[in-house]
Amino acid sequence: MKATVFLGGGRITSALASGLRLAKYDAPVVVYDRHPQKLRQLKKLYGVDTERDLHRAVERAKLLVIAVRPASVDALLREIGKIDCPLAAVSLAAGIPLANLRSALGPQVRWARAMPSPACRSRRGLTALVFDRSFPVAAKREVKALFAKVGTVLEIPDGKFDAFTATHSCSHGYHALATLASEARKLGLDRRTALTAAAHALADGIVAWREGSIGLETLLDEAATPGGIAAATQKAVDRAGYSRAVAAGLAAGMNRARRNAKLA
Ligand SMILES: NC(=O)c1ccc[n+]([C@@H]2O[C@H](COP(=O)([O-])OP(=O)(O)OC[C@H]3O[C@@H](n4cnc5c(N)ncnc54)[C@H](OP(=O)(O)O)[C@@H]3O)[C@@H](O)[C@H]2O)c1
Repeated sequence: MKATVFLGGGRITSALASGLRLAKYDAPVVVYDRHPQKLRQLKKLYGVDTERDLHRAVERAKLLVIAVRPASVDALLREIGKIDCPLAAVSLAAGIPLANLRSALGPQVRWARAMPSPACRSRRGLTALVFDRSFPVAAKREVKALFAKVGTVLEIPDGKFDAFTATHSCSHGYHALATLASEARKLGLDRRTALTAAAHALADGIVAWREGSIGLETLLDEAATPGGIAAATQKAVDRAGYSRAVAAGLAAGMNRARRNAKLA
C-alpha cells in the first residue's frame, strides 16, 4: 500500500508523527532519514514505518513530504533525480517558493507547500498551505486532511508564506515565556511560580480571546486599568521598544527566508 513518505526525520517530522499518532491517522506513514537512530526513535515513539534507502522510500510514496532543512533541499532533490510517474509532493522548507521546486523532480511531480508549526505535536498546530495550479484535486484533499488532523489549516498565497512563517512560529510564545519568567525570577519569584504566572499572562487571556467574542481592544482595556500596574508595565515595555524589537525579529525572519529561496 502506498504511503505518506517523509524525507527527513527531524524536528518537524517528529512533531507531525506525534500529532498524527494522537489523531489515530490510519494511512501508512514512512520516514526516511540518514540517521538510523532518529528512525529507530520515530518508530519506537510514534509507530511510523521507516526506510533507509532514499529511492525505495520515494517508490513507496503516494504523497512525498520534503522535510529537510532548506540548505539540504537541493542536494536531496538531485539525489532523487527525475520521477517518471505522477506524484504529489509537499515541501515544508521555509523560504523556498513553488517556482524553485516546480521542475526539480520532472514534470510528473506536482508541488504544494505546507508551513506547519511544531504545536502539531499536540494537535494544536497551525499550517499554511499553497498548491501549485496543476496539483491534483484528490491529492489536495489528502494534504488538507493530513494537516487538519494535527490542527488548523489555512490556504494562503505562496508570496505570503515568508511573512506567515516569521509570524506563526511557536518560538515567539516560548521566547516570551522564557524572558518574562526569567525577569520575574529576578524580582524574587521561584522558577515554578514565575513560569506559572508568565504562562498565564501570555496564554490564558489569548485562548479566551480566541474562543470568545470580545474584541482585543476591549480585553486589553479590561486588563490594564488606567493608572494601574499593568498599564504602567505596558507603557514601559512600549517605551523600551517592544514594537521595534518585534519588527526587527520579523525582518530578520523575512531576510532568512529570502536567503533560503536562493538555496534551491
Ligand atoms: N522545525 C519546525 O518547527 C519547522 C516548522 C515548519 C517547517 N519546517 C521546515 O521543515 C524542514 C525540516 O526542519 P527540521 O527543523 O525538522 O530540521 P531537522 O531537525 O534538521 O531535520 C531534518 C532531518 O533531515 C536529515 N537530512 C537532511 N538531508 C538529508 C538527506 N539528503 N538524506 C537524508 N536525510 C537528510 C537531517 O540530517 P542532518 O542533520 O545530518 O542534516 C535531519 O535529520 C525545514 O525545511 C524547515 O524549514 C520546520
